[in-house]
Amino acid sequence: MARILTGVQSTGTPHLGNILGAIIPAIELSKKHSDSFLFIADLHSLTQIKNATELKQNTYSTAATWLSFGLNPKKTVFYKQSDIPITTELAWILSSYFPFQRLTLAHSFKDKSKDLKNVNAALFTYPMLMAADILLYDANYVPVGKDQMQHLEITRNVASKFNNLHGDTLIIPEAIVNEDTKLIMGTDGQKMSKSKNNMINIFLPNNKLKKQIMSIKTDSLSVESPKNPDTCNVFKLYSLIGKEEDVKQMKEKYKNGGYGYGEAKKELFELIIQSYSTQREKYNYLMDNKNEMDQILKEGSKKAKKVADQVIKRVKSKLGI
Ligand code: ADP
Ligand code: TRP
Repeated sequence: MARILTGVQSTGTPHLGNILGAIIPAIELSKKHSDSFLFIADLHSLTQIKNATELKQNTYSTAATWLSFGLNPKKTVFYKQSDIPITTELAWILSSYFPFQRLTLAHSFKDKSKDLKNVNAALFTYPMLMAADILLYDANYVPVGKDQMQHLEITRNVASKFNNLHGDTLIIPEAIVNEDTKLIMGTDGQKMSKSKNNMINIFLPNNKLKKQIMSIKTDSLSVESPKNPDTCNVFKLYSLIGKEEDVKQMKEKYKNGGYGYGEAKKELFELIIQSYSTQREKYNYLMDNKNEMDQILKEGSKKAKKVADQVIKRVKSKLGI
């Protein structure tokens, strides 16, 4: 049976890019494949966050997002990366099989390497921890956004290097990337990202969420002018969430003119509020009942550990340790 696995860092509240690009596709897949592992990559978050209260809060908001979007912890193994410390052991082992030179080319490091004095060693070895996350559970498919494809290539590569030396030991995973949602743009027209101030956080109170949506960058065509829906981020987001008929109608309004970006943004705001009302409610409920999440994650970690123990045993048996 094919196993799917993916993780989201706890570097903040997951944004619409994370939700459309990774969380919804992963949950949809988990409904199809009965074997799924979904987790919170809190150790990866340490590369950015050093404050305990903040990291804990982010871990809860990440867990609440997964659960509010329908992750079923009875069917999916849902856990926190830091609860399985063997992950770091496997990451160390894998690092011994991967060339330093190749790691210098990883985007996670390269993008920040202009300012080397602020790059910590964990950011440099980040892809090795991610490879361990995946290989430790014999994952076959990993649903991710476009930005993670290079990390998946590194994972496949290090697993092959290990297998070539020691015989088949690790499963070579495949990335699953959803073409429509692999790269969601933020309010500034760049990739939506927790580290940039360009997020749409659907869990914010209405007035704050509206402000974020109203700040989406558009061109400066007048209300009267016909507009191109295909180059507009407001329309793009609307089309990913809205019903086919409503999307068609908005498209017509863009083309006909007499319809301003302000109006389109208001419609997007209404759509988000409507489409995600259950999720927003559940999210708030869970954030007020964190003990429920603690319990769910604890159960999940127990199940994850069972699988991880078997795989690390297999790996170590090849190494004389
Ligand atoms: P961020 O880059 O915002 O810190 P994460 O690193 O936690 O987010 O990403 C978690 C998942 O969400 C990954 O699978 C990643 O590819 C996906 N993702 C992140 N940003 C986007 C985006 N703007 N569009 C589509 N998917 C995204
Ligand atoms: N690095 C991923 C990101 O930034 C998060 C992540 C950590 C992950 N480990 C993973 C994703 C394993 C998929 C599989 O988005």
